[in-house]
Amino acid sequence: MRKNVLVFRPIPDDLLARIESEHDVIVADPRQPAQLPAFRAALANAHGLIGSSVKLGAAELAEAGQLEVISSISVGVDNYDLPCLHRRGITLCHTPGVLTETTADTVFALIMATSRRLVELAAHVREGRWAANIGEGLFGWDVHGKTLAILGFGRIGQAVARRAALGFGMEVLYVNETAAEPRDLVGRATRTDLDDALQRADIVAVTLPLTDSTRGLMGLREFALMKPGAIFVNGARGQIVQEDALLAALDSGHLRAAGLDVFATEPLPQDSPLRSHPRVTALPHIGSATHETRRAMAELATRNLLDALAGRQPAARFDLAAFAARAAA
Ligand code: DGY
Repeated sequence: MRKNVLVFRPIPDDLLARIESEHDVIVADPRQPAQLPAFRAALANAHGLIGSSVKLGAAELAEAGQLEVISSISVGVDNYDLPCLHRRGITLCHTPGVLTETTADTVFALIMATSRRLVELAAHVREGRWAANIGEGLFGWDVHGKTLAILGFGRIGQAVARRAALGFGMEVLYVNETAAEPRDLVGRATRTDLDDALQRADIVAVTLPLTDSTRGLMGLREFALMKPGAIFVNGARGQIVQEDALLAALDSGHLRAAGLDVFATEPLPQDSPLRSHPRVTALPHIGSATHETRRAMAELATRNLLDALAGRQPAARFDLAAFAARAAA
């Protein structure tokens, strides 16, 4: 039976055509003000939604009375009101797995960029300031052999750990609710608690999901616990960090640098000091943004959507029941 599908972020034409061959489709991106009325009108009749980077909270879901499935083109599901979806029996799908290595590459790129001052030194060349060999004032710091703490040890955290331990000979500490040591990391990654990890690491990288228990996790106390001269990298979600506290730790010189792919508000507001802070390497949320990976995410999300609407088990269904059980525990 043909159903109503609302595509709320552009997807490749061939995938759109695949959905259109089975269902009636409206494409409307609410981030474009001109498309907002069409989005809201389609929401009221939609059985399926596919897209990402749009908050669908209680108010939006209340308008979507027919909704059966949301297929998110993201691994993170923090844009959705999970208790509401669970209560209403709406299926939520996401795209784990296909973006793991690409996102780990981004986190590692930030570790390298901040430690070796790549952006700053590239600007030095580009702006014509390379007139003589650089002196100590522009030297960076080694990455290999250092201690890396990874907050969150899911697929992406483990992929970062592999790069660090197996490729760069780093000591890896990780902080995670449960112990998880894939075979190739046995003896190469040590689970510890947050305070210990912060106190011992030269570099702290966040790969946690945004949940009620991780929101605001990194505040004044946590940054103060980090070693003087340590580096902070966030490739997860901006709201895990209290940005004022991070800025204070950078401004005081306690932290050497921060590499940030994510921010509490995105796009980063024009007046945010994080845009131009000399100790910050800021990226526009590019964790998974390669041609190959964004294509793989859109493909998986399309399959998830079509399977869920047809009553088949989608390949990557987010477990709302497990989430509700954890929240109640
Ligand atoms: C994800 O997949 O969750 C990425 O952060 C893109 O939003």
